[in-house]
Amino acid sequence: MEFDRQILESSLHLERKHPYLRFSLHIFDSLPSTNQTVWDLLKQGAEPGCVVIATQQTAGRGQWGRQWLSPTGGLYLSVAIASQLEVTNSYQLTLASAWGIASKLRKCGISVGIKWPNDLVLEGCKLGGILTETKVHKGEITQAVIGVGINWRNAVPETGINLKSWQANQNSQGIFGLEMLTAAVLLGIESGLECLHHEGISILLSHYLDLLTNLGDQVYVNNLLGTVIGVTPQGNLRLKMAEDDSKELIKTEISVEPGTISLGYSKTSV
Ligand code: BTN
Repeated sequence: MEFDRQILESSLHLERKHPYLRFSLHIFDSLPSTNQTVWDLLKQGAEPGCVVIATQQTAGRGQWGRQWLSPTGGLYLSVAIASQLEVTNSYQLTLASAWGIASKLRKCGISVGIKWPNDLVLEGCKLGGILTETKVHKGEITQAVIGVGINWRNAVPETGINLKSWQANQNSQGIFGLEMLTAAVLLGIESGLECLHHEGISILLSHYLDLLTNLGDQVYVNNLLGTVIGVTPQGNLRLKMAEDDSKELIKTEISVEPGTISLGYSKTSV
């Protein structure tokens, strides 16, 4: 499948005077994993802002060591960034990217929300996901690769949705093609990281919470029912637990790390 570099370049406004990220584009037909190719290019001296795009992946990587199925028709991209965050704050890169991408897509009329911690959701179904990988030295992140997969016109599993069909059902066309979607995602990552860097995690987190679809959801942790009330600056899910100590109902707050519980999807696609 053809990917039109010129359409992408003009949608990205590469001639911007003071970009937060200086994108350099590497476009491939097929790769094992765009994240892996960015790491390889960084080893060969590539700079932050190095972007790898593939029209398909044969060994796409998902969260928690899962595979990310990557047939043609989907968006698969990764970008290298420099970071001076402490490793304990590494999830901030994912929160910033998720918010940045979701808010860019919303400006195109697509009602995307965020499912904690790293999923982009549309109508309760998974539209895409983010995988951030880091290199750490003495407790600090020195390099990071942010990888994004979004369902454009590829087939999706039961809990997924693709953007092209959704737009067709809505009779809307905020995003015209894969190249425009790619530009929105890259500019979204850039704006999320810029917000984190210039305005700090408290402001970024308040934006992220505005788009979080899980607030108020009820989940069980160790057989106790909790209600989602927010996310910590480290990316943990904040829950208010109802504990019955047989005399009175005490409400305590706990937080759980990404990967320890799964929130599920509210809908399955038809
Ligand atoms: C998730 O599990 O939700 C995150 C999936 C991230 C997949 C993307 S596709 C482009 C980039 N390259 C990879 O190998 N993975 C990420």
